[in-house]
Amino acid sequence: MSVVGARPQFVKAMPVSRALGERHEERLVHTGQHYDEELSDVFFDQLDIPRPAHELGVGSGTHAEQTSAVVARLAPLVDRADPDVLVLYGDTNSTLGGAIVGAKLDVTVAHVEAGLRSGVRSMPEEINRVLTDHASDLLFAPTEAAVENLDREGLGDRCQLVGDVMYDAMLWAREVADQETDVAAEYGVERGEYVLATVHRPRNADDPDRLSAIVDALAAVDGGVVLPVHPRTERALERFGLWEWAAESLTLVDPVGYLEFVALLSGARAVATDSGGVQKEAFFLKRPCVTFRDETEWTETVDAGWNALVGADERAIVDALTDASPPAEQPSPYGDGHAAERIVSQIESTEPATET
Ligand code: UD1
Ligand code: UDP
Repeated sequence: MSVVGARPQFVKAMPVSRALGERHEERLVHTGQHYDEELSDVFFDQLDIPRPAHELGVGSGTHAEQTSAVVARLAPLVDRADPDVLVLYGDTNSTLGGAIVGAKLDVTVAHVEAGLRSGVRSMPEEINRVLTDHASDLLFAPTEAAVENLDREGLGDRCQLVGDVMYDAMLWAREVADQETDVAAEYGVERGEYVLATVHRPRNADDPDRLSAIVDALAAVDGGVVLPVHPRTERALERFGLWEWAAESLTLVDPVGYLEFVALLSGARAVATDSGGVQKEAFFLKRPCVTFRDETEWTETVDAGWNALVGADERAIVDALTDASPPAEQPSPYGDGHAAERIVSQIESTEPATET
């Protein structure tokens, strides 16, 4: 049984679902944390993943409301289905809810994307990661750095280095997305000229000073900026009176499907974001990235010279987007595109009863 609920989890689940589907029965549970068509349905339409077998309808709310609703609604399902393994992805409230249920019901819990740490305890995802890792039995780490983090917390014996499932997903998507050559023109920008941007972290979206510095910086960038707007950010732009200025100076669009996003990324000259997944996707497609944060869990992208951490400093954002010049060579810290197969093999060797 796999638990997903927010946009990046649909992407992460795809390669694992495909690999699981070859030999096993998987039941996908959608918590309903994301429910808008463009944050949820579009991924099930485009991606090679099964439709959810169960919808928990949790929706939006405080962290306590969301997490406790996942726990309360998922627990009876897991209890009844008695799955061989409960697979969780990433670091959202849906992930943490799943971890609590699995641990309490003594089901084997597998955490995909284990061991990531920003070192910032005030970040909601950091708490979700730490608690989920400690409650899980199988920790699937995407990188060496993640393995080291787990070792430091005494979790090394539960951990396996498998590579990054988002890289697996990208290898599939980029071939499909490459056929969507007109996507830049659809948004009125020139391929190879524009910047693709996303903003959704509460630290940026919910802080008027930071959000306005980010918008001002993007407005000053040459070649145009396409910004698919996350609903949290849409509300914030309206609330802070920034919407009109942003709409005048940037190309604001609704969140797009994964394939359109990958096509937009592939056509961009650079990427500006505070997303975890998008930092890596920029790296996979060899697009320089500028990140509106002071730290990142994906330190390899920075060490390799392909990602600049600029916070919400207007000047630093403009300079980094103007002068981006990553090295020609790129290391491969995210595996070989077969992370999902490794995950399934590990699950099989832990739980022989999973054979159907
Ligand atoms: C969540 C995750 C974050 C992840 C992000 C991916 C947590 C704590 N945060 O953040 O780690 O990076 O998803 O995008 O789990 N909303 C809608 N429609 C929707 C969903 C949300 O309008 O379908 C609006 C609601 O006003 C809601 C707000 O967006 O209050 C935030 O949604 P929520 O899921 O709570 O957090 P995200 O910011 O999306
Ligand atoms: N993404 C998408 N459409 C968009 C913006 C992002 O399909 O308009 C995809 C992106 O390709 C990546 C994932 O969503 O796979 C990242 O999700 P998000 O930035 O919301 O969350 P994070 O990775 O920060 O947790």
